[in-house]
Amino acid sequence: MNNTLYQGSHRRLFEEFLKLVDDSDAQLAAILNSSSWEEVRSILTIGGGQGIIEASLLRNAPHANIWYLDPSSEQCDAFRQFMKNELLYSRVKDISQTTFQDFTASQTFDRIVSLFSWFYIGTDEQWLSKLIDLLSPSGTAFLMLPNIDSIEHIFYREFSPDKRMTLIGDEIVKAFRDQKFTVTQDTYTKWLLPGELFKGGQLSDGSLAFAAFAAERPFDTFSKAEVEKISELLKSSQKSQGVPLSWDLISISKNSL
Ligand SMILES: C[S@@+](CC[C@H](N)C(=O)[O-])C[C@H]1O[C@@H](n2cnc3c(N)ncnc32)[C@H](O)[C@@H]1O
Repeated sequence: MNNTLYQGSHRRLFEEFLKLVDDSDAQLAAILNSSSWEEVRSILTIGGGQGIIEASLLRNAPHANIWYLDPSSEQCDAFRQFMKNELLYSRVKDISQTTFQDFTASQTFDRIVSLFSWFYIGTDEQWLSKLIDLLSPSGTAFLMLPNIDSIEHIFYREFSPDKRMTLIGDEIVKAFRDQKFTVTQDTYTKWLLPGELFKGGQLSDGSLAFAAFAAERPFDTFSKAEVEKISELLKSSQKSQGVPLSWDLISISKNSL
């Protein structure tokens, strides 16, 4: 994450963007409804960021402890602080400042979650197998990624300098199925309304900041042609309910292999 995007005068726009795209309640509900949590003892979160959804998962899994990995020292610190503030720190068993690829564990996990972090891991067979190997016999892993029709994916495809960010749920599902693993894919949509995306015929702050986030550049570096491109992408993605911000929840259960 390029933190300079979110400082000073850019901070307010970044917050507009977060408000626009936030779908964390639906994401939490989707994960909670996809398996039972009552008996879960161990959760591993991959690229867990600050850990907002993880805190809610812990509250719904009263017997569980959590293991965390993220290569970013800022994210590890933010997670530690957030768990302390939420009075959940005693249930944090480990914080590893590392990538999934380099992560090692001497145990398996009942639940593994990767919320918008599998971009950095991809579809190589060795990482899919590593995920399965880290699951306990009755364990389930949940990977969340943009759906192919999502405006998020469209912005990444158009503006991201990092081609890994174009990874979508369908590619992960295909990669697991090619390796004969059984996965399920459920797609959810938050509809972004024209009134949130445009103000007085111009792009709203939230829309501009969304595209800037995908481009990993400050919003004020967009050329006039790029600003027009953002408008055009939003308008061409418009359906009767709004512009889809869609994400896939991919579930992999070890006992269905
Ligand atoms: C888009 S953020 C998602 C954060 C959080 N899960 C959320 O949903 O808000 C992606 C996270 O993946 C982490 N990350 C980057 N490369 C990674 C890797 N190879 N393995 C695991 N996590 C990685 C980043 O540091 C970042 O915190």
